Amino acid sequence: MAQPDVDVSQQSGEQPVGAVVILAAGEGTRMKSTRSKLLHELGGHPMLSYAVDAATALQPERIVVVVGYLREQVEAHLAEVAPHVTIAVQGNDAYGTGYAVKCALDVLGDVRGEIVVTYGDVPLLTSETLAGLVADHRARGSAATVLTADVPEPTGYGRVIRDDADLVSRIVEHKDASPDERAVTEINSGIYVFDAAVLSRGLAEITTENASGELYLTDVVTVARRQGLAVAAHVTDDRWQTEGINDRIQLARMNGELNRRILDRWMRAGVTVIDPATTWVHASVDLGQDVTLLPNTSLEGATSVAAGAVIGPDTTLVDVEVGEGATVTRTHGSLAVIGAGASVGPFAYLRPGTQLGENGKIGTFVETKNAQIGPGAKVPHLSYAGDAVIEEGANIGAGVIFANYDGVTKSTSTVGRASFVGSNSVLAAPVRIADGAYVAAGSAITTDVGVGELGVSRARQRNIPGWVLRKRAGTKTARAAEQAAGQEESS
Ligand code: UD1
Ligand code: CA
Repeated sequence: MAQPDVDVSQQSGEQPVGAVVILAAGEGTRMKSTRSKLLHELGGHPMLSYAVDAATALQPERIVVVVGYLREQVEAHLAEVAPHVTIAVQGNDAYGTGYAVKCALDVLGDVRGEIVVTYGDVPLLTSETLAGLVADHRARGSAATVLTADVPEPTGYGRVIRDDADLVSRIVEHKDASPDERAVTEINSGIYVFDAAVLSRGLAEITTENASGELYLTDVVTVARRQGLAVAAHVTDDRWQTEGINDRIQLARMNGELNRRILDRWMRAGVTVIDPATTWVHASVDLGQDVTLLPNTSLEGATSVAAGAVIGPDTTLVDVEVGEGATVTRTHGSLAVIGAGASVGPFAYLRPGTQLGENGKIGTFVETKNAQIGPGAKVPHLSYAGDAVIEEGANIGAGVIFANYDGVTKSTSTVGRASFVGSNSVLAAPVRIADGAYVAAGSAITTDVGVGELGVSRARQRNIPGWVLRKRAGTKTARAAEQAAGQEESS
């Protein structure tokens, strides 16, 4: 089942936006990290990637990311995941959002139409909201439109000052605001759409005469109004979409909200989530209809779960493909494939290269790595299967070890179709147990076992009569032996 995403591509006939500028040059000092703030992850992806995805879905002619602090890290990430974006480097000869946008325009050159400005640290902003902002801007024929929100605690934000016609007359930063202005609860989200020409003319006129000594992008609004142009506010009632991340407390809060939104979407699409508070699903995960997620489950990366499967409780799957109707209980898995109707756990550890066939079983306290386990084959209890090929219908007894490493090289062992390996055997790789063969319990197998053969590799058992009474006289075991022997005689 594909994610129920909305298509926000421009309708035919509509001009695409000229450019989206994503500001990502700030220091992010409150993260207290050697890693760029923008690369800290939520929902399994760096926060910057959400801004890039929202911009990309708007289908502008160009996307520019303005980088500065720790820019090598940010640029390396963008080169890998978003080669379609242009990088603009913010120098350190000036500061502020206005200067950052100037740096973007230097790289862009002439832009037709509109320029959208967003931030790299506002991950819940959606392309739908950006599209709505642009549509409102065009419908009203504004020179600039500011995305605003009404918030109960506006401290720190720029306040939106409206005129009698309800247009935006200016935006005043908290630091520069009078007590009356501070009482205003409509805040500037920092997300805008500008007519490109209005933006570049405005940026040429703004100055650093303010409490921070920075070039404020918000002052472009004042310049535009002075020129008699209309600046509108587009209010969103979803405040999460305007919220930025400055520290790790906000990161955790936003991560929680992102996860709630992802889970809501899946529940609406037919997935049962028993405990949303302890269930984590990355944005990149795909879930089928009637999947059930039990508490303490984390589905990450490129994991997909087909219809009707039950995952959890206490399960983490990273890049795992789960087939229809499978059950995966108290398991940790990565880079593994679980077939339809198969069962895994409780307490299984699936390492990369594990492939479990249809209706197969990996049971309790079993570790697998690079193991192909065929349809209907079973490894039910207390085993290690590394570099193993276990063919269709084979049964691996409790405690069997595929000893794949001789201290120098790793080798593969094979157990053929419908063969049976007795409990507590060790298969010292490379060995091949043929189709339709048996291995006796407790064997150390070092050479191949042929079709229809029984491989036995252990000392023959001998029983020594009278040993307990002679060697353990006076113990409870000896007394039990005497009693049992007496009963046998009298019966
Ligand atoms: C800015 C707005 C404020 C708004 C708030 C919303 C201005 C002057 N103020 O304030 O009205 O309410 O955002 O969050 O625009 N950045 C750069 N280069 C810089 C400075 C900032 O790229 O030189 C980037 C930052 O990385 C960040 C964004 O711009 O992503 C906003 O910067 P920040 O310093 O957080 O702006 P605020 O002062 O919070
Ligand atoms: Ca901020």
